[in-house]
Amino acid sequence: MSLFSSTTQSLPETGSIPHHVAIIMDGNGRWAKKRFLPRVAGHKVGVETVRTVIKACSERGIEYLTLFAFSSENWRRPPEEVSFLMGLFMRALEEEVAKLHNNGIRLRIVGDLSRFEPKLVDMIRRGEALTAANQRLTLTIAANYGGRWDILQAIERMLAAQPDKRSNFQEADFAPHLAMAYAPEPDLFIRTGGEQRISNFLLWQLAYTEFYFTDLLWPEFDAAVLDAAIASYHSRERRFGRTSEQLNIDREPKTVPISTAVSRPGQDA
Ligand code: IPE
Ligand code: IPE
Ligand code: MG
Repeated sequence: MSLFSSTTQSLPETGSIPHHVAIIMDGNGRWAKKRFLPRVAGHKVGVETVRTVIKACSERGIEYLTLFAFSSENWRRPPEEVSFLMGLFMRALEEEVAKLHNNGIRLRIVGDLSRFEPKLVDMIRRGEALTAANQRLTLTIAANYGGRWDILQAIERMLAAQPDKRSNFQEADFAPHLAMAYAPEPDLFIRTGGEQRISNFLLWQLAYTEFYFTDLLWPEFDAAVLDAAIASYHSRERRFGRTSEQLNIDREPKTVPISTAVSRPGQDA
C-alpha cells in the first residue's frame, strides 16, 4: 500500500510551489549569544518561528513541511541543554497539538523514539493519532533523527519483510521502509544559520532536492524568507539527470516512468 516514488526512478511533478519543504532550523544558540542570553533562550524564540513557518506553509499550499528539531548527534550537547530541549518539545506538543488539529494539520514525528521518556512517546503517539486524518498539511518533526539511523532501520525492516531475499534489491524494496515513506522526497531544502551541510538529515531523500542556504539565524526566519527560498526554487532548472534541451521538448506535467520519459518522439513542447 505504499506510494513509492523516487526521483532517481521517475520524474516527479515539479510545480511552482514545492510539495515538500524540509528545513534545518539552525542558529538558535548564536541568536541568543548575540543578545548575551543563554543558548536556551534562542530555542524558546525558535518555537515561535516554527509556528510562523507552519502557518506560512499552510497558506502557500505546501503539502509537506519537515523540520529537523533534534539530531541523533545532539545528545552530545551539555545535559542541561538536552533536557531543556526535551522539556520544550513536550510543552510544545501539549500546547500545539489541538491547534494543529483545528487547522487541518497532520502531525508525524520521525526518529528513534526509544531514547525518549515514555511520557513523551505517549504524547507523540496521541498527537499523531488525533491528527492522522488531516489533509491540509503534513508536518513532520524529526526528533532524535539521523539519516544514517533511518537507512539502517530501513535495511532491517526490508530484510524482515523479505526474509528469503538475498540479492538484487531495488529502491522499491527499500524506500517504503524509510521513516518518511508517507511523503514524497523533499523538493526544497532550507538551512538557516549559515552552515552549508546536511548534518545527517534526510540522506537518502535529498538525492534531487534543491538546496537553499541563508545566513539568517532560525529565530530571524519568517514568511518573507520562505518566499525568497521559494522564489529561488522557482528559478532552478530541475533536470534529474537529463539535459536542458530535453526539458524544453519533453516537459512532463506528471510523474512518468523513466523508460517512457527518455524517448518520446513526437511529443509537443
Ligand atoms: C538549532 O540551533 C537547534 C538545535 C540543534 C536543537 P543550534 O542550537 O544548533 O544553534 P547554533 O548553531 O548553536 O547557533
Ligand atoms: C542540525 O544542527 C540539527 C538540527 C537543527 C536539529 P546542528 O547545529 O546540530 O548541526 P551541526 O552540529 O552544526 O552540524
Ligand atoms: Mg547549530
